[in-house]
Amino acid sequence: MRIVFIGPPGAGKGTQAAMLIQRYGLAHLSTGDMLRAARDAQTEIGKLADKYMSTGQLVPDDIILAIVKERLAADDCRAGYLLDGFPRTLAQAEALDRMLAETGEPLDVVLELRVPDEELFRRLSGRGRSDDKPEVIRQRLVAYRQQTEPLLDYYQRRGLLKTIDGVGTVEEIFQRIQEAVDRLGDRTGERRK
Ligand code: AP5
Ligand code: MG
Repeated sequence: MRIVFIGPPGAGKGTQAAMLIQRYGLAHLSTGDMLRAARDAQTEIGKLADKYMSTGQLVPDDIILAIVKERLAADDCRAGYLLDGFPRTLAQAEALDRMLAETGEPLDVVLELRVPDEELFRRLSGRGRSDDKPEVIRQRLVAYRQQTEPLLDYYQRRGLLKTIDGVGTVEEIFQRIQEAVDRLGDRTGERRK
């Protein structure tokens, strides 16, 4: 299974991803986690990426695509993966489509986690990651609205989008996600019959 998570900062992508990869045996590919690891290791890519991350801007597409391409080629991705925080721009989505076409492995579903802004601010203010300062959160939200939200329409047109209500307890939301993913499996089963 190949799943994409789309949602604004604080929507719960990372939280839900940790549970989903267990449930379905997937590799977890979080571009944010990869960039933070590169930043902490002080690599050239990490230092460059930090300039964008610390101000809430998106890291340039060419850097992201190089990281994702390499990661997707790893063995643990063969059994399926969950993309958390990628793609985030139309150029990234188109590049992903080209990569998937090369391997003949299409996406199964794109899950949008929808959460109102007030709740996002509440969640992120209580967390304390270095980009969780109010002015940076605001810029991350602007980047989401301007650069990432257009992907919802992109995936809707391809019939891949499922929107999940991201408000509630972690368990309630996981339940909703599981139902959406399992319904997908039922439909594939019907087509095969
Ligand atoms: P990234 O790391 O992807 O961060 P983000 O999208 O801003 O989202 P977060 O990780 O903050 O939130 P989340 O949705 O994972 O929620 P979480 O589960 O943690 O990106 C960081 C930066 O890297 C970007 O700004 C950009 O610069 C760069 N970047 C990354 N990918 C890129 C790309 N593809 N292209 C370009 N640049 C890229 O939950 C948040 C908090 O809420 C936690 O404290 C959690 O405990 C809590 N919580 C979770 N669920 C609930 C719930 N149901 N109820 C109450 N609290 C909850
Ligand atoms: Mg995250």
